[in-house]
Amino acid sequence: MLVTVDNVLTPDELALARDLLNRSEWHDGAITAGSQAALAKNNQQLAEGAQHLPALRQLVLSALERSPIFFTAALPLKILPPFFNRYAGQTNAYGFHTDGAMRMSPHRAQGYVRSDVSATLFLSEPNEYEGGELTIEDTFGTHGVKLRAGSLVLYPSSSVHAVSPVSKGQRLACFMFIQSMVRDAAQRRLLYDMDIALMRLRQTQGESDPIVRLTGIYHNLLRNWADS
Ligand code: NI
Repeated sequence: MLVTVDNVLTPDELALARDLLNRSEWHDGAITAGSQAALAKNNQQLAEGAQHLPALRQLVLSALERSPIFFTAALPLKILPPFFNRYAGQTNAYGFHTDGAMRMSPHRAQGYVRSDVSATLFLSEPNEYEGGELTIEDTFGTHGVKLRAGSLVLYPSSSVHAVSPVSKGQRLACFMFIQSMVRDAAQRRLLYDMDIALMRLRQTQGESDPIVRLTGIYHNLLRNWADS
């Protein structure tokens, strides 16, 4: 399941993030990739210890906390601290790969995070670069994703995906790995669809006894399937 969440960042947050990134030093992106992914990965990334990385991470995580759609789609238990990357010039693509299942937190005391859901938060506008689609293969075929700056796409970490070469301009983005309370993608999907339908019902019809009961069923399914 692919879920896009528009306007995760406010215009002010987006401007601040871009300003901090434009004042940062970029390093070879292979630093956080496993051995298979490293062969395909040809981009740049902020290194751990980069001056503005803590502020950038805090900015993104605070924005995610405000987003009910992000929450219901990912049901996040743990989020690996977000990373930031840049595709431009000679370092401009990431071939087909899958994301490693278990990732050590850069703050080692937090241990491993299982990546169930991957996310890309776009930080450049689509007209600022050519190419650079995030291409994701899922059970319904191959999807190319290129969103407005400040918007985010969630996709299963188990999918094979790539970033096509950026032939002009630069593509800045933030990427994240999320351990979900619900490990199984099909169960997450059912919960997401049900929650979205309930939100719409509530908006159009207000609270009612059947909606209260359906909400109870949602939570009982979540109780059955979630780990904490
Ligand atoms: Ni990936």
